[in-house]
Amino acid sequence: MTTRILTGDTPTGRLHLGHYVGSLENRIRLQHDHELYVLIANVHAFTTRATDPDSIRRDTFEIVRDQLAAGIDPERATFVVQSEIPAIAELTFLLAMLIPYSRVMRNPTLKDEIRSKQLGDHYSFGFPLYAVGQCADILTFRAHLVPVGEDQAAHIEMTREVARRFNQVYGGEVFPIPESLIGRVARLPGTDGVEKMSKSRGNAIYLSDTADDIRKKLARLYTGRQSPTEPGDPNNVLFQYARAFIPDEGRVRELADRYARGDNLGDGAVKAEVAAAIDALVAPMRERRARYTDAAVLEILHEHTRRANGVAAETLARAKEAMRLDFTPPGSGSGTSG
Ligand code: TRP
Repeated sequence: MTTRILTGDTPTGRLHLGHYVGSLENRIRLQHDHELYVLIANVHAFTTRATDPDSIRRDTFEIVRDQLAAGIDPERATFVVQSEIPAIAELTFLLAMLIPYSRVMRNPTLKDEIRSKQLGDHYSFGFPLYAVGQCADILTFRAHLVPVGEDQAAHIEMTREVARRFNQVYGGEVFPIPESLIGRVARLPGTDGVEKMSKSRGNAIYLSDTADDIRKKLARLYTGRQSPTEPGDPNNVLFQYARAFIPDEGRVRELADRYARGDNLGDGAVKAEVAAAIDALVAPMRERRARYTDAAVLEILHEHTRRANGVAAETLARAKEAMRLDFTPPGSGSGTSG
């Protein structure tokens, strides 16, 4: 049996290094021997940006382009534009009956978002519903593995609960119980050295940044260290980047060791090495990005939507059959498989 993998992102802008080490590099690695679905959660984007459809559309193209540039192979992986998969919406409604409202509202990731985005009690009805929607995203593709950043683990836990409950209540093994796969760096700090890297905090290094952007952003990184002979903290934000992006571990150990001893190693020298390592990672992406015009991306999405709906419609048929909702003659489909 091949392992199915589903993961994805809400399109909020260009992808940054936090996305890369949190999940994207796992996708790129796993696409070779697994069936990989990469979801663009464009419906979820409407939970907080319903009045901004143009920017959601632009971000949808951008996030696909970023991933193609980063090395997702459209011949292997399948992009899933959430709004194009009717089975996801249908399954969201059905799964919502199996999760207590209070359980959704206790989801720590939702609570964090309400706090950090200062949504107060003004959020849309659809906002907490997205957590149920995320369960449906994963279960629609009967995924076994979900590569995500640490902040998404609570959603995967809820998905496991609802999958178990569905199988138990309606019988059969319609849904595999998915596992999360947390990235190599669970939480990459932003260039402010404090918060997690994110677009909204303005502390991100983007996969589409130029060598010059990268150098400048690192130059501004604040470590509080005064001189190359002052013992430095080898776990500060600069060294978290060094560990995340300089491939030669021996070199990183050597740098960290000298830094900690204050052995005449200035921040500027470490920053230059880190900047070069990050640039080496993203330079080929910059080059590949140019190939993917909007028209080229759209062509890929058309083909992938067809593929994705095939799997999705089959899952929905199985789920509805288990729920005694099978009123459609076999083979006639439910209108979702094209
Ligand atoms: N909530 C995720 C994010 O904002 C995006 C997402 C939606 C997702 N559905 C998913 C991630 C299913 C993994 C699996 O980044």
